Order: sequence, then structure tokens, then C-alpha cells
Amino acid sequence: GFYAVVPAGGSGTRLWPLSRAGRPKFLHHLTGSDRTLLQATIDRLAPFAPAERTYVVTGVAHAAGVSRQLPALPADNILVEPSPRESCAAIGLAAMVIARRDPTAVMGSFAADHLVRFTERFRSSVRDAIDTARAGYLTTIGITPTHPETGYGYLRCAETLGAGPGRLVGEFKEKPSHEVAVEYVESGKYLWNAGMFVWSVRAFLDELARQQPELHDGLSRVVASWDSPQREETIGEIWPTLPKISVDYAVMEGAARAGRVATVPGSFGWTDVGDFHTLGVVLPMDDDGNVVVRGEERGGEVLAIDAHDTVVVPRSGRLVAALGVHDLVVVDTADAVLVCPRNRAQDVKKLVDRLKERG
Ligand code: GDD
Ligand code: MG
Repeated sequence: GFYAVVPAGGSGTRLWPLSRAGRPKFLHHLTGSDRTLLQATIDRLAPFAPAERTYVVTGVAHAAGVSRQLPALPADNILVEPSPRESCAAIGLAAMVIARRDPTAVMGSFAADHLVRFTERFRSSVRDAIDTARAGYLTTIGITPTHPETGYGYLRCAETLGAGPGRLVGEFKEKPSHEVAVEYVESGKYLWNAGMFVWSVRAFLDELARQQPELHDGLSRVVASWDSPQREETIGEIWPTLPKISVDYAVMEGAARAGRVATVPGSFGWTDVGDFHTLGVVLPMDDDGNVVVRGEERGGEVLAIDAHDTVVVPRSGRLVAALGVHDLVVVDTADAVLVCPRNRAQDVKKLVDRLKERG
């Protein structure tokens, strides 16, 4: 059978003060729909995996929020980490839990915080990816790049695999420098890695054992205790010692060098909503290019005169008024207000770093 996995960690610091340690971005409504990013992610996967074959891996602080937002998910399918160890530990844990249930399973891992505009096209790429994964490849979904983004992984496409849309990946390069990213995009040979992975649990766990023996061994010991009364104690002891590394660096780059990574193309209006500027690009705007990002919580009124290309996030219930401004981000929450130019939206995490230093 097919299993859906959603690693939901990371706090989304570039979306501060909306996204907070206590309420990270995947638990938020960012699109004006009545579903949060996490709920929408699970909805998209429903035709492939019913709730009992769906797993969410999340931190201890967010397990209650996840369970509240996904009432159909069995409690056992929320895998709770004592502390964040990045995506390889999270995805590896899910793979091992699934392999115990079904050693022949195929699983797909999907980030909790992406926007997908065209659901049916997304599902058709997932179907292609499942076919390619059955042939033994660690399969990624590749997106045609539009600019030299340095926060993504890049896939160099090599030969086609059989009759399907799958292609071998000659190189997987995670987060290249700006110069390298420019070169990749100009060459026309690279796709962005969408952060969605489909593979048989056996193929993935073999690669994990080969490339990250320490992580594989630690996770094996955690999962060996899964049904015993020592589960909590074991995970509490081992988890903090696991290598802290993302699956892209830990497994995908090396697997591509070994000829074990494939990609299928995706063109479904994909966005990794990392910051407020990007949100403003993908959400509907008024005639002046202004965007109001509404959520489910108390949305205040917005009054704009001679303002254009501004992103307003009214989440306090107060009136937000803008006069004669342009290309700004204004976020109003109950206990913090952010104002910055749109072209500095990437740097919002610096504010969070500074706040953390202050303690
Ligand atoms: N449970 C858990 N614990 N989940 C985690 C943790 C963790 O410690 N760290 C990250 N995740 C989850 C995130 O919530 C997200 O769903 C997924 O793993 C990817 O992590 P990100 O931190 O968002 O990765 P990224 O955006 O820098 O890069 C990845 O995604 C890009 C596309 O958006 C890579 O796969 C890139 O190659 C890719 O281009
Ligand atoms: Mg991301």
C-alpha cells in the first residue's frame, strides 16, 4: 500500500510575527481558505492514503495542535519528536514505523507548508512518482525554475526511464550558492526539488543505512522499543543524540551520485511560502496590487488610500490604515507589529534571531 508522511517541524521564522514557535506556519490559514496549510496538505493526499495510512511527524509542542486540526488522524499516526533534529530524523522515523507495518510499502513525504494551486495536476504528478518509485528509485518531483533561488535543491535531469515521465537525476545539489544557482537556471538542465519524495521504504532505508549508519542505527533502536513500555524513555534518550541534518544533504545528494534518484515533472502552481513578499505574489490582489492576508482569527478592517503593492496581514482585530505607501509588508498581531519593505521580507528572520538573543 501507499503511505503519506508529512514532516511538520521548522517554525517559519520569516513569517514572524504571524508564525511563532508556539504556532508555526503549517498550523495557520494563509490563503483565505478555511483550511490551514497542514490541513490542505493532508486533503490533497486523501485519494492516495486514508487517515490510517497517513503520518504526521511533529515536535512535542505542536502535537496537540496537529491532532486538533486533523481529528480523523489516529493518535498513533502522530509521531512526536522530543526535539527538532531536522528532516532526515523525522522522515527516517516515519519510514521505519511504516516498514514495521508493511515492509513492501511505498511512502511519499510532503512538506507541511507549501501551496499548491492545481490539486488535480498535483495528484497526477504523485501518481507518476509512485510508478517511478515502484521501479526502486528515490523519486522527487521537479519544478521548472523561474529564478536562481538559493533556498532550494536543484536536480540535473539525465536520461529518461522507460516509457513513463520519470528521468534519472544525474546530480542533486541542495541550496547552491547564488552564482551556481544562476548557472543552473541558465543551463536549462536543472529542476527545483519540490521537497516531495516518493520511494519504497526499503529503498530509502537501504540508502539511509549506507550513508547515515549512525542515524539509521539510532532510529532502529527507537523503533525497536515502539510497542514496549520503554518507548518514551528510549526515544527521550536516543533522539537528542541523532545527527541533525536534512534528508537532502543526508541522503539525496549521495543517492543521486549512486544513480538511485529519479524525478517526475510537476507543474501545479507550487509555492514554498517562505516569506510575506512571496505570499503577496501568489494571493489575489486588488487593482493597486495590494494583498490582504486573512486568517480564521479576528481579522481587522483594512483602509488603504494611495497605497500600492503592499501586503497587509490584519490579525489583531484592529483597523490597519495605510496612506501613500508602497511595496511594504505590514503585519498586525495582538502582541507584535511588523513593518518592512517587501524586498527585505527574507530578512525578517534576523529580527527573530535578535529577539532570541535577548531571551
Ligand atoms: N518533524 C520535523 N522535525 N519536521 C521537520 C524538521 C524537524 O526537525 N525540520 C524540517 N522539517 C519539515 C518542515 O516542516 C518541512 O515540511 C520539511 O521538513 C522541509 O523542511 P524545510 O526546513 O522547509 O526545508 P527547506 O525548505 O529548507 O528545503 C527543502 O524544501 C525545498 C522546497 O521547499 C529541501 O527539500 C529543498 O531541496 C527543497 O527545494
Ligand atoms: Mg521549506
